[in-house]
Amino acid sequence: MYRDPVQSLQPLHGVPVAMRPLRVGMIGIGTVGSGTFRVLARNQAEIAGRAGRGIEVVMVAARNLQRAAGIVGDGVVLTDDPMHVATHPDVDVLVEVAGGTGPARDWVLAAIAHGKHVVTANKALLAEHGGEIFAAARQHGVAVAYEGAVAVSIPIVKALREGLTANRIEWVAGIINGTTNFILSKMRDEGLDFAAALAQAQALGYAEADPAFDIEGIDAAHKLTLLAANAFGSPVRFADVQVEGITSLQGVDVACAEQLGYRIKLLGVACRREEGVELRVQPALVPAAHLMAHVNGAMNAVMVKGDASGVTMYYGAGAGSEQTASAVIADLVDMARLDGTHAAQRVPHLGFHAHAMNELPVLSRAAVRTSHYLRVPVHAGSDIKSVAAVLAVQQVPVQQLVLAAERSGAKPQVLVLTGPAAQSAIDLAVHALQAHPAVNGAVTTLRVEELAS
Ligand code: HSE
Repeated sequence: MYRDPVQSLQPLHGVPVAMRPLRVGMIGIGTVGSGTFRVLARNQAEIAGRAGRGIEVVMVAARNLQRAAGIVGDGVVLTDDPMHVATHPDVDVLVEVAGGTGPARDWVLAAIAHGKHVVTANKALLAEHGGEIFAAARQHGVAVAYEGAVAVSIPIVKALREGLTANRIEWVAGIINGTTNFILSKMRDEGLDFAAALAQAQALGYAEADPAFDIEGIDAAHKLTLLAANAFGSPVRFADVQVEGITSLQGVDVACAEQLGYRIKLLGVACRREEGVELRVQPALVPAAHLMAHVNGAMNAVMVKGDASGVTMYYGAGAGSEQTASAVIADLVDMARLDGTHAAQRVPHLGFHAHAMNELPVLSRAAVRTSHYLRVPVHAGSDIKSVAAVLAVQQVPVQQLVLAAERSGAKPQVLVLTGPAAQSAIDLAVHALQAHPAVNGAVTTLRVEELAS
C-alpha cells in the first residue's frame, strides 16, 4: 500500500539515500498495528525522507487473517505464526505490538537471536523481562526500542536519551496512566464515585484489558520501571517499585485536598538519592497551582529534573492508536538510520524538511483562520442579539456572546468568542459592527489560540 519504489527514493530532493528500504515484520495488527499502517501510509514521503530510506512492512502475523488482509492491503505476507515473522530472513526489524508477556518474550528473544532489531510498545514485557531481553540484544549487537511503551505520544525516551543526554538525572515524576488520571479528574470535577468513573474510562477504551493493571498502579509501575532504567542507566527493576493504586482512595479525600489547595494525582516517581534510587507509584497531593495538577482526563505528563537542564516537563496523550504509532514509527526511523543512512537524514534532518518548507506558501494575514475574542461597546439598552446578527451575515460562527459584568463607569460591552473564522471575515464583521447603530465605540479583537490540536 505504501511500498516505496526504490527509484522514488534516489535521490530524494538531492539528498542521497540508502537503496534498500528497511523491511519490517509485525506481530499483532490490532489498535497499534493498524495505526502504524495508517500513519506509515499517510506520511510515507516525509518518513522516508527523514529516515533516509523507505520503511516497508513486508510481513504481518495476526490471529484473524481476514481482518488483517483488510488492513494491510496487497503485497504484505500474512501469517498466523508469529515465530515465522520473528525469524524470517526478509525481516530486518521486528515490531511486536501484540501485547502479553509469555509468547511475546519468546518472539522477541528469537528475533534478537536471528540478528533483528526489535521495536515494541509492550511495557509489561519489558518491565518484567527487560533485563533478559536487553542482555540478549547486547550479545547479538541489535537494538531494542520502546518509545511506544511509555506515555506514547510524548517522546520521553528520546528526550532522556538524546535531548537530556548531558545531564545527571536527579528525578523523574509523571502522570503515566491515563485511566487513573481520567478517574481522578471525574471524581474531582463531577463528584463521581470511583466505580462510575472507572466504568466511563472503560467505555472510552482507556483501560487495559485487565483494568486492575491501571487502578492498582501496575501499568504506571511498568512505565516507571522503563523511565528509571533510562534516566539512571540502571537495570530494569519492576519488582522493586513500591506500588499503590487508587482503589482505596475516597471521594472525601479528593474534596479535602481541594480545600487545602491541592489535587490528588497518581504519580510515578523515580528519584536518585545519595543512598540509592526511590521507585514509587502512589496517589499524591499536588499543589493546585502546579502545572501537573492541571493535567486532566486521560492525558499524561512527565517531569524530569536534570542537573544541568533543571526541571523540564512533557505533556501528551498516553494512549491511542496513532499516538502509539507515532512512537513506534519514530523507533523505526531510528532503526533505519542505524546503517546506510546519509548524514543529512540524521538529526537534525534538514535535507527533506528544508526542501518541503521552502515549497510551502506562507499564508497571508487575511487567510489565517482562528477563533477570536471580540469586545463590542454598545449603547445602554441595546439588544445584544444585534451583534450576533451582524456576525451571522459575515458567516462568523459564534461560540459565546454575553454582556460583560458591570464595572462602575464603564460602557456596556458585549463579549463574543467566535468559532474558527478567516481574518478576512472577522475584518468585514468588525467593519459592519462599527457602522451599526447599537455599537458605541471601537471594537477590540484578539485571536484565541486553543493550542489543543
Ligand atoms: N491503560 C493505559 C493508560 C493505556 O490508561 O494509560 C496506555 O498504556
